[in-house]
Amino acid sequence: MPRLLFLCTLLLTLNASLVSAEVKVADFDSIELFTLTNSNGMVVKATNYGAIITTIEVPDRNGKIADITLGYDDVSGYMNAVDKPYFGAVVGRFGNRIAKGKFTLEGTEYTLALNNGVNTLHGGNIGFDKVVWYAEMVGDKGVKFSYLAKDMEEGYPGNLSVSVKYTLTDDNEIVIDYHATTDKATPVNLTQHAYFNLKGEGEGTILDHELVINALRYTPVDATLIPTGELAPVDGTAFDFREAKKIGRDIDQTDEQLKFGGGYDHNWVLNRKKEDGELDLAARVVEPTSGRVLEVLSTEPGVQFYCGNFLKGNLKGKSGKPYDYRGGFVLETQHFPDSPNQPNFPNTILQPGETYDSKTVWKFSTDK
Ligand code: GLA
Repeated sequence: MPRLLFLCTLLLTLNASLVSAEVKVADFDSIELFTLTNSNGMVVKATNYGAIITTIEVPDRNGKIADITLGYDDVSGYMNAVDKPYFGAVVGRFGNRIAKGKFTLEGTEYTLALNNGVNTLHGGNIGFDKVVWYAEMVGDKGVKFSYLAKDMEEGYPGNLSVSVKYTLTDDNEIVIDYHATTDKATPVNLTQHAYFNLKGEGEGTILDHELVINALRYTPVDATLIPTGELAPVDGTAFDFREAKKIGRDIDQTDEQLKFGGGYDHNWVLNRKKEDGELDLAARVVEPTSGRVLEVLSTEPGVQFYCGNFLKGNLKGKSGKPYDYRGGFVLETQHFPDSPNQPNFPNTILQPGETYDSKTVWKFSTDK
């Protein structure tokens, strides 16, 4: 049980012209909050509890700043979150679901905690979103969080040494670099679970946001949200976001896949044109009233687009406003869910001697 939180503030001055770090020390001595700023007024805050991004302040087309990510105003909010939304966290060791909490690797069957009905979700009971990471500033522009997940922690084999680095650029980009190594073969799938509402957190639903997903196919699921293994064409379905479309346009169509997800909660197979390891466009979102634009670029082959179907309006965020049903969307760049059990999906097994490197960029701009 975490002790009652008591926050005090300590200001770290860096010799950076554009980026500074503010460190809030909570009851766990090492929980800190880092603040990155850039020359355009963007502010990004992240804590080493769960490597959570707590704040993303971005200007609209008139220069008005709003915090466009959902979250809480102190770490106890994240620790005691109602309905486990994973606001802003890095999820792992394996992001998204593993069917029935089982997989077999090199002849050994591994059993994980079932924390999402009959399946394992986002690393298990104490995934990477619920641990304290080691934190360090990197140069004057970023913060890096590192964590050693022990052999058999949450049932996964191998000591996994993992890091995530967030860098804020003067081009209004948040660059996310993941890195991992292991001493035994193990599944790895890391992603960032920030929810966006480009009008501002707590400002109603995201159904009017216009979305492009750079994908010709997606991975349909069964009733427990495990992929069937098929890579189905989006053409002619509600899952077609090849051209900009309001998120809400087709969301209430009668469609078995939408019924299973309670809306969109699926993995799209990205239409990658670049070499492995190079950034390619995953998605682009425009919010028409503010003009804010988010582009997501990634080295990953998939993106889970989840549109807050499990938010119910009962959860109040950092500014006290309720987070409505579909009041935020998440674009989780990743390998496909349940890959350890799906031989036809891209490999997610990291071997000793290999390195896991993955990069995602969130680029903010305005449409006019
Ligand atoms: C992922 C899952 C969703 C949901 C959210 C967290 O996006 O696919 O089903 O569990 O995380 O609420």
